[in-house]
Amino acid sequence: MNLQSVLLSRFKNALSKIGAPENAPTPLGKSTRPEFGEYQFNGAMALAKILRQKPRDIAEKIVEAVEINDIAEKLEIAGPGFINIHLKSEWMAEQLENAIKDARLGVEKQPTQTVVVDYSSPNLAKEMHVGHLRSTIIGDAVARALEFMGHKVIRQNHMGDWGTQFGMLLAHLNDKLASNEVAETALSDLEDFYREAKVRFDNEDGFADRAREYVVKLQGGDEQCLKLWHQFIDVSVAHSEEVYEKLGVSLTRDDIMGESAYNPDLNATLSALQEKGLAVEDQGAQVVFLNELADKEGNPAVYIVQKSGGGFLYSTTDQAAIRYRCQKLNADRTLIFTDARQALHFKQTEIVARKAGFIAENQSYEHCPFGMMLGQDGKPFKTRSGSTVKLADLLDEAVERAEKLIRARADKLDGANEAGLSEVEQKEIARKVGISAVKYADLSKNRTTDYIFNWDTMLSFEGNTAPYLQYAYTRVQSIFRKAGVDPQSVNFAINLGEAQERVLAVKLLQYVESLNQLVSEATPHVLCSYLYELASCFMTFYEACPILKDGVETDKKESRLMLAAMTAKTLKSGLDLLGIDTMEKM
Ligand code: ARG
Repeated sequence: MNLQSVLLSRFKNALSKIGAPENAPTPLGKSTRPEFGEYQFNGAMALAKILRQKPRDIAEKIVEAVEINDIAEKLEIAGPGFINIHLKSEWMAEQLENAIKDARLGVEKQPTQTVVVDYSSPNLAKEMHVGHLRSTIIGDAVARALEFMGHKVIRQNHMGDWGTQFGMLLAHLNDKLASNEVAETALSDLEDFYREAKVRFDNEDGFADRAREYVVKLQGGDEQCLKLWHQFIDVSVAHSEEVYEKLGVSLTRDDIMGESAYNPDLNATLSALQEKGLAVEDQGAQVVFLNELADKEGNPAVYIVQKSGGGFLYSTTDQAAIRYRCQKLNADRTLIFTDARQALHFKQTEIVARKAGFIAENQSYEHCPFGMMLGQDGKPFKTRSGSTVKLADLLDEAVERAEKLIRARADKLDGANEAGLSEVEQKEIARKVGISAVKYADLSKNRTTDYIFNWDTMLSFEGNTAPYLQYAYTRVQSIFRKAGVDPQSVNFAINLGEAQERVLAVKLLQYVESLNQLVSEATPHVLCSYLYELASCFMTFYEACPILKDGVETDKKESRLMLAAMTAKTLKSGLDLLGIDTMEKM
């Protein structure tokens, strides 16, 4: 059941009953204060303009016409013509009683679409660094949520496994193997390896030429070269997989669809662009001129698809990827998660692909940009010595810090702590808290803005953080342990007597709204905010409405246990979609 859509359809009916035109706006939002009810319908003002009548008169007509007695206990007209909707407690209770029995918590699936999600996509020539963290985490949460909402999700890890820098790397690898090193040792630190190769490329006589030869040979399918390339890729992919494992993201080897996979289609892609008259020769290169992105002087933007030497580029691969996704996979939507600096590339890419007919009218191509992760100094996140931070190191540090924190808490809580956690349990909790803290700090920020990476805030048990939500979840679980009731199978009547109970109930019914917004806008922070508000509503409710205290009547206790169980289930479901672990005790 979607509260927002149920209300909306009632008001739409009312508008048509009073003769409003088909396209009259129907703004419906959540009320900002409990005195104004739970929702507010604000369509009267706009309609008044269209019909040239007084807004309050229109509001009165709407209130008269709307059939909503089963859902709302009262409608109130306020101000110039706002309609405040106070929901019926009995109706909300009934909705919740139904939702709690449902494995999907009452969240209806959307009509299925095929959605390609291109995320993580590190460049294999180097170690994965923090820049790929955001793509991996955000993309993974969106992919999971899309699946939950009933879509067919095709994950694609568009790894940078092709291109000119591989010539230099393969030449260097060749020499190392020739002097009896094995690939795994030679490539144990990709950063070092890359640096060494670059030094040779810049300084060593003849090396650069050999590197260029290797590129040509590789692209021509030379066997010895491909063998070296495979060795390199295997080790590098294994590095990425270690990070995925640590992060608990759902990407597997089968999801890899790297740049090299499109190599066989690059010539055909170029031909298609030429046949359409889009790609033309310019100083030996093949380019598409884009008048729609001309500069101030009217010079069109230049989108290169083949270099003068014949080499293909990142852009050519993206065109081929579009052909595959839109024409072979029939993707209704393609979502690509990269940092905002690539926005222009994807804008140009989409324009070219649409003109070429690679993307059909009803298919969408959505670059989902994100801001940068910054250090405390507001500059791009770096290590103390100024080099890029390796993802693997960052995650290890997160777990170490969480371990200290959990140990300190356990010492403080000792005695008062019903759980009495063993050393092993503490370690496992620390791992979950540490990794989750990093992931959640990223997910909870508005995707498009830069954010400052801060260990102390992300590991805090207060505020919109992973530890706060994980703790909120365990608190509810501990209520059930004390009550000796299984939260999975509670089945009592719900009665919403107190204001805090109503507030919590409405919040619980709004889970689906946050999910719908998340999947349509590819913004996990919407779900984070929702879960944080839900946990806060629960804490307020729990303070005002005791559950297990002596003297609480049985039916009240049971009803409150239902609200608590629904809170736990919703928190768990939402955190699962975000890829955040929950635990029974901490
Ligand atoms: N490998 C690229 C990078 O690290 C991201 C690829 C994104 N996907 C795409 N289809 N271009 O910046």
